[in-house]
Amino acid sequence: MTRKDNNIIRRIAINTGGGDAPGLNAVIRGAVYAALNRGWECFGIRDGYNGLFLPEQYPEGGLIQLTRDRVRNITHLGGTILGTTNRGNPLKYPMPDEEGVIREFDRSGELIEGLKENGIDALIAVGGDGSLAIANELAGKGIRVIGVPKTIDNDLDKTVITFGFDSAVSFATECMDRLHSTAESHRRIMVVEVMGRYAGWIALESGVSGSADVILIPEIPFDLERVAAKIKALQRQGRKHSIVVVAEGAKPKGGDISVIERRQGAPERLGGMGNLVAHKLEEMTGKETRCVVLGHLLRGGSPTTFDRLLGLRFGAAAVRALEEGKSNVMVALDPPTVQYVPLEQATKRMKTVPLDCDIILTARDLGISFGD
Ligand code: F6P
Repeated sequence: MTRKDNNIIRRIAINTGGGDAPGLNAVIRGAVYAALNRGWECFGIRDGYNGLFLPEQYPEGGLIQLTRDRVRNITHLGGTILGTTNRGNPLKYPMPDEEGVIREFDRSGELIEGLKENGIDALIAVGGDGSLAIANELAGKGIRVIGVPKTIDNDLDKTVITFGFDSAVSFATECMDRLHSTAESHRRIMVVEVMGRYAGWIALESGVSGSADVILIPEIPFDLERVAAKIKALQRQGRKHSIVVVAEGAKPKGGDISVIERRQGAPERLGGMGNLVAHKLEEMTGKETRCVVLGHLLRGGSPTTFDRLLGLRFGAAAVRALEEGKSNVMVALDPPTVQYVPLEQATKRMKTVPLDCDIILTARDLGISFGD
């Protein structure tokens, strides 16, 4: 959607929603510099959208003015200077009703009011599927908005990659390098559980790069008999240790994913499959087994060069989109360039690992088992 009159932008807001990911601060800096260079003012909304629609929680103000000084020297920093949250979707905000029963309320009216009161002409919403779906709904209610795709899980459609993913995969791979030596010394099986929600991208790419023997991903339900057979076969060939990567969303054939917590107003928390697999593999192979859960270590720390550059590019591209009069689109990597795709298309489906993709084929050619 393109608007002809792009002169109306004087002041924009940026927010970061959902789980944090390395590269968020690079996006903020890219967007702020690009906006200030156009003479626009920039504000950051604290903690997703909370800073705007829950003002009572922010006596110091829910908006932070983003000046050149405020965003100097932040490209290399992990986390987000604005704060974030993956709870409390303003469109489905869990609150007690008159009878004290917790129900979901649409509080987007207060959010839109907050934007208007603060003279915000446009919003840059940086987030994953949940945050971008909210951005899409806000656009439907008349807010001028550009989305920026973020998530370590890489499960967003219509962009070749999301920022944060490369940092997570690089760190997971480094961990596997370290685990090989201790596993070999003790002749153990090391099971490594990695995040990624319902998509196996992190497990797949770090597992192949980190020379894992087995990779279990949500897209390929596994049979532990096959995994144990693979490990025993390796042993017969003289390989005394094994590395098994388990995506947190992996599940056995005919079984279910492992969920730690389900709570209203928040995404379900996955975890525990690594320990389950480790326990059973120890029984089935007779080999000493340990499980390492990488968890939030994959989200913390400095972004890689790739994620810094991608973040800066996405941030600046979001501002160019606004200048060109665009709204309701997401910036997307389409090498060698950055494109704009309608937010609605980008949030329609989750991008999982295609079973015929060349990384899966490569893994199979290398002899890596998916437990199928
Ligand atoms: O979506 C990013 C992610 O890190 C997932 O990989 C993981 O399942 C989830 O967030 C963890 O969320 P939380 O920070 O609520 O534990």
